[in-house]
Order: sequence, then C-alpha cells, then structure tokens
Amino acid sequence: MGRLDGKVAVITGAASGIGRGTAIRFAGEGAAVVIADLNQDGGEAAVRDCKENGGRAVFQKADVSSEAEIKTLIARAIKEFGRLDIIYNNAGIGGAVGPLEQISVEDWDKSFAVLMRSVFLGMKHAVPELRKAGGGSIISTASVAGIRGFNGLHAYCAAKAGVVNLTRSAALEFAKDKIRVNCICPGGINTPILHRNQPGVKEAMEQWMAHGQPIQRAGHPEDIANMALFLASDDSNWVTGQAMVVDGGLTIGSGFFQTPDAPRQQTAIPPQGFVGPSFEK
Ligand SMILES: NC(=O)c1ccc[n+]([C@@H]2O[C@H](COP(=O)([O-])OP(=O)(O)OC[C@H]3O[C@@H](n4cnc5c(N)ncnc54)[C@H](O)[C@@H]3O)[C@@H](O)[C@H]2O)c1
Repeated sequence: MGRLDGKVAVITGAASGIGRGTAIRFAGEGAAVVIADLNQDGGEAAVRDCKENGGRAVFQKADVSSEAEIKTLIARAIKEFGRLDIIYNNAGIGGAVGPLEQISVEDWDKSFAVLMRSVFLGMKHAVPELRKAGGGSIISTASVAGIRGFNGLHAYCAAKAGVVNLTRSAALEFAKDKIRVNCICPGGINTPILHRNQPGVKEAMEQWMAHGQPIQRAGHPEDIANMALFLASDDSNWVTGQAMVVDGGLTIGSGFFQTPDAPRQQTAIPPQGFVGPSFEK
C-alpha cells in the first residue's frame, strides 16, 4: 500500500530537478500526478518516469505566473482524475541577480511573478478543490534563501521569505478547512537551476557542493522529495504553517573562528581548554 494511494497531486516545475524527483516519488506511492511546467519535452519525460514508477501522470503546459494558466491547470487535474488533494508550488528560477543598484524594476517584478505570485495563485485556485475533497495539503518550495540572506540574490531572497510567511498566514486561514499549508527550504540541491545542463558541470558541482555544509555531500532532488512526501501524506496531519529546512545542516551555524586570520572552516573546533574572563591571560 502506498502512502498516497487514491490521492491526486499537482506539481509545478515538475519537468526538472526537485519537482520531477517529487513527481516520481509521489507516483510510486500511489498518487495520480499532474506535471506542470513551461518545458514540454521535460514534462513529457517526467510523465514517462512516473508511469515507469507505477503511477498515473499527465503533463499540462503552464506558466505559473499566469492566473489563467493556473486555473486551466487545476481544471485539468479535475478533468483527468476527478479531485485534488495536494498542490506542490515548486516552479522557480534564479531571477534578478547581482548588485542591488543595478536591478531593473522589470527584472524585479518578473522574479516576483515566478517565485511568489505563482505560490499565491496556486493556493488561490487549488483551495476550492481541496475543500471539495474534504481537506488537503499545500506545499511550496521556499529556500534557505528565505530564512537568511545571500549576497547578490536580493529578489530571490525576498521572494522566498515571502513564500515562508505566506505559508504561515494561509495555514491560519485554511486550518478550519482541514487544509494544511507548509513549505520546504532546501539548501544546495544539484539540479539544472544551478548546473544548467552544461556538460561536466553537474559532476563538478557535486564535488564542490559536498563541502558547503556539515553533512558533506551535495543535496539531491530525492532529499526534498522525501520531505514533500511527508508533508503530502497523512503522516504530517498535525503539521501546518511550517518551513521545513532540508539543507544538510547548512543553516545551523558554523565552526569556531579561532583567530582573525585563520581560515573559516565549518568543521573547526577550538582546542580543549576553559575560557575564563577576558582580562585573564
Ligand atoms: N536547487 C537548489 O539548490 C534549490 C535550493 C533552494 C530552493 N530551490 C527551489 O526549488 C524549486 C525547484 O528548482 P530546481 O532546483 O528543481 O530547479 P530546476 O530548474 O531543475 O526546476 C525548476 C523547474 O521550474 C520550471 N519553471 C520555471 N519557470 C516556470 C514558469 N514560469 N512556469 C512553469 N514552470 C516554470 C522550469 O522549467 C524547471 O522545470 C525552485 O522554486 C527553486 O527556487 C532550489
């Protein structure tokens, strides 16, 4: 028996990376999945992957920043599978990057349309169907960039922080409808958003990303899919309004800073001893 038997899920950004990995996982646990993305070839390949993993799946081309296309997406889920239990608002881009003074208003707004408006729209149009199903689970992909700053990622950090707090306000509103609302804050996950499918870059990133956090390996879509499965399933039925951090320990702190000129290593620990008042030698 699968953990999502009989459930229907819409997953945006599911042609690639985290969304695709999650779609495959959900399908293997018995869900029927609507794969939504701008990328048709990737979306159709993800449908094949889901079917190979024993599930039902269809592809719907959709731009998540468009209200009309989100409405059509939800309607497709109902037409194909008759109900909706889970929406995973996951599609994303890097958006406007670089020095703040050089960001155009146009690029700022485009970033927010894809990273934040999309999450609002997914919630807005899924909720009526989740209510009809007697409740459900809304999941969104935020980021560790939504809970701490990253230099040069102003629009991304601001939008992902918005996703975290929209998750909380929506959770308050929809708890009475038995609709739980949570988000996931991934750390560094080795997906095309970073390696852009450039030859050899995925492999190089795998090495480089291993040293970015206390658990010394790169994150993979399956790490996030496992959390999404927990949030989608009844195992999390008393969990709402939360930002679940899945980052190999990236955000928990850093190593001891021994002297101003010592390299700042996450694994550094002070030598054994006892540190008394600072006036003592
Ligand atoms: N990879 C990481 O390190 C990381 C870390 C934290 C958060 N995230 C977030 O995870 C989510 C998934 O990213 P990923 O790492 O799997 O990257 P990815 O590029 O592999 O997947 C993102 C998908 O979103 C789709 N997409 C982009 N704009 C869209 C639009 N307007 N409408 C519909 N689909 C659109 C892309 O076509 C792609 O298939 C994003 O929200 C991203 O911000 C990623």
